[in-house]
Amino acid sequence: MSTTAHQTSETVPWRRRPGLEAIGGRLAIAGRDAEQLAREHGTPLYVFDLEYVREQLVALCSALERAGVRGRVRIALKALRDPEYLAVVRSLGTPGGPDGVGIDACSPGEVEHALANGFLPQEVSVTATNLSEADCRTILQHPVHVNADLITQVERIGRLSPGRSIGLRLNPRAGAINRRTSPTTTVYSGERPTKFGIYLEDLPAAVEAARRHGLRLDTAHFHVANGILTEDLPDYERAVAAMAVMVERMLELGCTIREINVGGGLGDSARSYVTPLDLDAWAGILKRHLGDFDAVIACEPGEFVAIESGVLLAEVVTVERRLGHLFAGLDVGWNVINHRFVYGHDMDLVHCARADAAPADNVTFSGNINEGPDLFADDLPFPPVEEGDIVAMLGTGAYSVTNYHAHCLRPPAGIVFFADRLPVGRQ
Ligand SMILES: Cc1ncc(COP(=O)(O)O)c(C=O)c1O
Repeated sequence: MSTTAHQTSETVPWRRRPGLEAIGGRLAIAGRDAEQLAREHGTPLYVFDLEYVREQLVALCSALERAGVRGRVRIALKALRDPEYLAVVRSLGTPGGPDGVGIDACSPGEVEHALANGFLPQEVSVTATNLSEADCRTILQHPVHVNADLITQVERIGRLSPGRSIGLRLNPRAGAINRRTSPTTTVYSGERPTKFGIYLEDLPAAVEAARRHGLRLDTAHFHVANGILTEDLPDYERAVAAMAVMVERMLELGCTIREINVGGGLGDSARSYVTPLDLDAWAGILKRHLGDFDAVIACEPGEFVAIESGVLLAEVVTVERRLGHLFAGLDVGWNVINHRFVYGHDMDLVHCARADAAPADNVTFSGNINEGPDLFADDLPFPPVEEGDIVAMLGTGAYSVTNYHAHCLRPPAGIVFFADRLPVGRQ
């Protein structure tokens, strides 16, 4: 195929970091040549740098500690749940201790998966939506902690497991999102009612329902953000201030709050031009607004821990100019990676063998699912691309492997995990 020379001679930008580098102009993940991994294991292929997972969790725990927050971290299992990943999470701190990293689960299946992978029931916090009677029966047979997100769910849990300690997922009517990378993601909690969480004016009824069943309300839970970075923190702070008002109200209503769980929503962006999340500023907000409550401050990140640890490799199987637009077709589709379609979230694409090369053309990347929107990038400035080349989609470690579906009976991608990084230059 031929490509026309492009107007710019700059290299295509992507965020480099230890474990994700260009070595001799070729993309390397955890010190291994990306194209070689694709040839060896086949495509599509997820490649995970698990050292990055460890670094993110350590950074998060350290920021909470520096801010003087009595913190607890649980990872959101919905983002990634493979045993190799969970083993890294498990290796941090003491299982069951305040420094151990636990699990946020959102379904009976996730509760059972966490327990099967070595997490203790007391390390599992369940915050789910629309739990059926059968869901509740399965979950409540384990001594895990559950946050109810509707008054009718308080009633259901109370009927099935009276006397238990539970939490309430609350909706503070404020939230924060990353509008640059997830412009279409809805705010979990804003002015218009969402399906999540109990509102301030409904708190007396929720507390009364709990009392009737002898349930002890010990946790205030919130999840109010999505992919936030430093410039989203003012919105986030407004949401946290609203949380504090709701915690006060629960205390006035006679609850003994032992934990304030601020949910997930922390972002991590591969995009070189986006300012990453200032963890100290985030932890400072928690300290300022929630630090005076006599409670542990828990968080349950998914994206922040896992998204940048994973890279999806795919082979270019067709290259063709169509009405003046250059299309490159990949051997992967939106059933394997749906960030763009579910979350409106664009990814950085890198030519594995030409990671430092200047763009040569604007390329539209399309997938192998028979749906028009199965596109990964429109008119992206990209180096010369040919059939057989390997392309990497960065920042695809979270909500990707877990979100696979069998559309068109296209199979899932393969996965390789690296727990170590080879020194640069050694393969
Ligand atoms: C209750 C709850 N906690 C935590 C998370 C993890 O969110 P994130 O991956 O944005 O950190 C989610 C995601 O939907 C959630 O619903």
